Amino acid sequence: MPLMTRRKLMLAGTGIAVAALAPRITVVQAQTTPAPAAGPFKQDPLPYANNALEPHIDARTMEIHHDRHHAAYVNNLNGFAKDHPQIAQAPIQDVLAKLGELPEAIRTGVRNNLGGHANHTMFWQIMGAGGGKPSGDLAAAIDRDLGGMEKFQTDFNGTGTRVFGSGWVFVVVTRDGKLAIEPRPNQDSPLMDGKRVLMGNDVWEHAYYLMYQNRRPDYLKAWWNVVNWNKVAERYAAAKAGTLGV
Ligand SMILES: [Fe+2]
Repeated sequence: MPLMTRRKLMLAGTGIAVAALAPRITVVQAQTTPAPAAGPFKQDPLPYANNALEPHIDARTMEIHHDRHHAAYVNNLNGFAKDHPQIAQAPIQDVLAKLGELPEAIRTGVRNNLGGHANHTMFWQIMGAGGGKPSGDLAAAIDRDLGGMEKFQTDFNGTGTRVFGSGWVFVVVTRDGKLAIEPRPNQDSPLMDGKRVLMGNDVWEHAYYLMYQNRRPDYLKAWWNVVNWNKVAERYAAAKAGTLGV
């Protein structure tokens, strides 16, 4: 084959390869790295390594969950805050308790994304490796209000299993320290009803699907291994002191 012809064929081959790869690379980048929108809402890094909760929650799930799902809520909030800066000028729990006062154009968006931001901020905080057991005041409140640890876990898991589609199962806490289990759909939060959240588990499929697929009850059961009871106890004390935020 003459040299020039061979070279043209090689170049043509390269061109085809690049053209075939280019759109795929673009799509993958768009999925993995949402462009950060600068603004007043910030996402804290995970307080532990992505693999810290293994074997109960895998590193890949934690990475996708924190770096993409939660990050997307924060990103969306910064988008809303450009035209509606008031949503960042009050504590998150106060904005969520007064969603009805927001302009209708952003009300649903703030409900979903600020609810998601609050829920996930709490969620990362109350997990950790080797979480121990509740003690002191918190253990006494679980005995008094939730029928003891075994009944609490059974009821919490059952409530989480019965959430239809995506949502959360929470334990709410009053100023006098009384506890109750409450589910919510989507990214709704008891904060929207002026209540305080002691703890909660995310039962969206994105929280467990890679490891557990459709077996949400297995995920709910395994999740207790990664609850950081020291953090939950801190939140309990803050709730009684009136200083608990999200
Ligand atoms: Fe989530």
